[in-house]
Amino acid sequence: MKKKIVILPGDGIGKEVTTEGKRVLETIASLFGHQFEYDEATIGHDAIEATGNPLPDETLAKLKNCDAILFGAVGHPKYDNDPSLKVRPEQGLLKMRKELGLYANLRPIKLFDELLQASAIKPEILKGSDILFFRELTGDVYFGEKGRKDDGNTAYDVMIYQRYEVERIAHKAFQAARTRKNKVTSVDKANVLESSRLWRAVVQEIGKLYPDVELEHQFIDSAAMKLIQNPRSFDVVLTGNLFGDILTDEASQIAGSMGMLASASVGDSVGLYEPIHGSAHDITGKGIANPLASILSAALLLDISFGLKEEAETIIKAVEKALALGFRTADIADAETDRAKILNTQAMGSLIVDQLMVSVKENQ
Ligand code: IPM
Ligand code: MN
Repeated sequence: MKKKIVILPGDGIGKEVTTEGKRVLETIASLFGHQFEYDEATIGHDAIEATGNPLPDETLAKLKNCDAILFGAVGHPKYDNDPSLKVRPEQGLLKMRKELGLYANLRPIKLFDELLQASAIKPEILKGSDILFFRELTGDVYFGEKGRKDDGNTAYDVMIYQRYEVERIAHKAFQAARTRKNKVTSVDKANVLESSRLWRAVVQEIGKLYPDVELEHQFIDSAAMKLIQNPRSFDVVLTGNLFGDILTDEASQIAGSMGMLASASVGDSVGLYEPIHGSAHDITGKGIANPLASILSAALLLDISFGLKEEAETIIKAVEKALALGFRTADIADAETDRAKILNTQAMGSLIVDQLMVSVKENQ
């Protein structure tokens, strides 16, 4: 298969982890006989420093003209500490989502058995958890009208949803549920918010087209609680942009660490794949970031954008194997981890590459 992939490292640990994600893609290409061509582009703080624009036109042109994107992260503490700055790295990410029509953000929360102990939640509550989030990504308060009035002393962000925006992501969630445990939990705040009442009504309508899929509705506050109380009761979770942002960070604790979670953003055209962790400036440049989320993002890329299921499965198996052999990065290590098996970013990448080569050879 011949494909063009853009690597978009972004800020902070984004560079370190996408380097390993790319190595894994290169390894898969050579083992399975694919031709992947790579290009690189800038976004976020990096791009602001170079061009003044968090999403330069040149980057957007490259993204619109490729088959898939492997993205790192954006963000920089400089902006977090100064809310008055007008040009911000996150604007690049939001504009990219909008421009590429990436309205569905899939965040699979899958617990690797080997990491049961790494979570702060009791193993007996966690075991067997497997949740797929569908977070709406191009609507809601993120993109509603925002502004200031009364001399800057009043600020607002409008929470807004249109019917078609809810319909299209609801279809995706119900279709995914059919390939899993046939259950969709739609999360909103319909007891208070008008936009949530529209959300709920539309999801109910779409749900009727999928009578074989069980549909339940939960309010965001209660869902946040139940997620920790009984994560196994969820299969597919369908929710809006802001609620999904918050709930998926919470859910990352079910998987042991943010460092393990990959995500896919899909919609009208090209797919974008990224870890759910951010730029993590506290550990940037130290070479200790966990590259597994980027590597698992590469697996999602192969699966969803290219339909290469076997290749994707091979990557997941290699990650499982590395964990089963006792190897960890610092974020997923615990008191029982053999100190000699705590790897840095690059060494973990190399280990996965080795495991890929071994597993493909074994299957020949
Ligand atoms: C995420 C991030 C982004 C979001 C930020 C960086 C704008 O937290 O992808 O979850 O809020 O969507
Ligand atoms: Mn987030």
